[in-house]
Amino acid sequence: MDLEKKGNILNICCIGAGYVGGPTMAVIAKNCKNVKVTVVDVSRERIDAWNDINLQNLPIFEPQLKEIISSCRGKNLFFSTEVSKAISNADIIFICVNTPTKERGLGAGKASNLKWIELCAKQIANFSVGHTLVVEKSTVPVKTAQVLKTILNCNNNNLNNSKKSFSILSNPEFLSEGNAIEDLENPDRILIGGEDENSINLLSSIYENWVDKSKIIKTNLWSSELSKLTANAFLAQRISSINSISALCEKTGADIEQVVEAVGSDKRIGNSFLKPGPGFGGSCFKKDILNLVYLCEFFGLEEVAEYWNSVLKINEWQQDRISKILIEKLFNTLSGKKIAILGFAFKANTNDIRESPAINICNQLINEGAFLKIHDPKVKKEQIEKELKLNNIKENESIDDRNLIDFHNWNIYKSVFDCINGSDCILILTEWEEYKNIEWNDFIECENNTWIFDARLLLDKKKFENSKFNYWKLGS
Ligand code: NAD
Ligand code: UGA
Repeated sequence: MDLEKKGNILNICCIGAGYVGGPTMAVIAKNCKNVKVTVVDVSRERIDAWNDINLQNLPIFEPQLKEIISSCRGKNLFFSTEVSKAISNADIIFICVNTPTKERGLGAGKASNLKWIELCAKQIANFSVGHTLVVEKSTVPVKTAQVLKTILNCNNNNLNNSKKSFSILSNPEFLSEGNAIEDLENPDRILIGGEDENSINLLSSIYENWVDKSKIIKTNLWSSELSKLTANAFLAQRISSINSISALCEKTGADIEQVVEAVGSDKRIGNSFLKPGPGFGGSCFKKDILNLVYLCEFFGLEEVAEYWNSVLKINEWQQDRISKILIEKLFNTLSGKKIAILGFAFKANTNDIRESPAINICNQLINEGAFLKIHDPKVKKEQIEKELKLNNIKENESIDDRNLIDFHNWNIYKSVFDCINGSDCILILTEWEEYKNIEWNDFIECENNTWIFDARLLLDKKKFENSKFNYWKLGS
């Protein structure tokens, strides 16, 4: 180990206590007892939530996360807002901050906004002591490590008169939400890109505490940065491909589930990431493809940019398509109709609604005059409020008076039963397990021929053969 430790044990600091920083550091702390991990964030609210004594209000819902936090927090895992102190003590610093799409200026709407990465680099330059390994874990455009290097070397103002130096590594994260702990405990691979072998090996030695060495891929910095964008683009491309075929199935009498089975059983194609749905959501696929498109345009590769942009176009089209089908089946008018929305999260097992297809689809239905009765087991009303930006009625206010509908256009329901009962149609947007076991015969207040739109292929068509419900399944 080349690194001179700043104490008796290896100190890790993680900047950014979000969906990646929190779970990743929890798993490192769990598997490396000789390491002290401090996760810092500028958001006091987030840090307070991570420190919640009863573990009831952790900022992120992930299966098994609570148990790990409970066993490591206060022992070798700490959450704090003292960013400069954690940086000074650190041997290794993971940068896990947000890298959203730029909203204004050069490259707006496509390029990544690296403001938070730059700020981290400046803080590290100011407060680090001695030699520090700086690890890019956030998803970034290729060549970001060069930006980090430049900032670190220009801004190391030696506030504490210490001699400082840095090694920069790229170590992108491949976890998927809702499955984060499982992905972190049993990753397909760990990717480490860097320039100096000792630093790469030091980072590798941390993962080797629980990951087989054969799964650790070592590359140069730029391959590592680009591989992360490419992996997300490939995954998203498979979803757009199958969604485009789902539309063709509906026109031709083919059944998308049968097509998926037939196509996916070819080992060269494989069957994962071929599940049709209302389009991909989540904080990353769209932003990472936009970023890839921007990079291609920047390097003059117009055709390549256009190719990847089409993945995004199909994704938007799929969302519009679902709204249009629903509107058509309801006689082209939603005015005064109550629509039960089952699921608002961008996928099951997460409370995350970033870029969820539910946002576009719900806004389109509201624009058509519908009243939405929304249910999601993990998403809070305040989260939805920010996205629908529309009035909502008070929890106990009657929605039976249809005159109210023009003024109040959605509400959230704690019970699936109350959400569905009395609705004019039901739209399934997230594949929560509990929706599979709904007793459809119980909804006495739903009229005959009430439509169920299953955009997640969650239910069994046979269940509805002799029922009062009309059942529409995506891609069949
Ligand atoms: P997030 O928004 O949940 O968390 C980022 C956190 O960083 C926020 O809490 C923010 O307050 C904090 N932060 C920003 N600047 C800071 C600073 N200078 N000092 C201290 N704290 C600061 O984001 P996320 O979902 O965890 O994603 C982080 C990165 O990881 C992104 O680049 C994303 O593309 C990538 N990624 C995300 C996922 C995922 O599943 N969410 C998976 C793989 C990779
Ligand atoms: C995705 C990748 O799977 C992770 O490897 C990556 O680390 C992460 O992005 C990231 O960089 O942020 P995530 O967005 O959490 O993870 O979730 P996915 O399981 O990939 O699902 C993304 C979206 O695609 C969801 O809306 C999901 O419902 C949809 N999807 C997924 C489908 O419609 N069909 C599928 O077959 C798979």
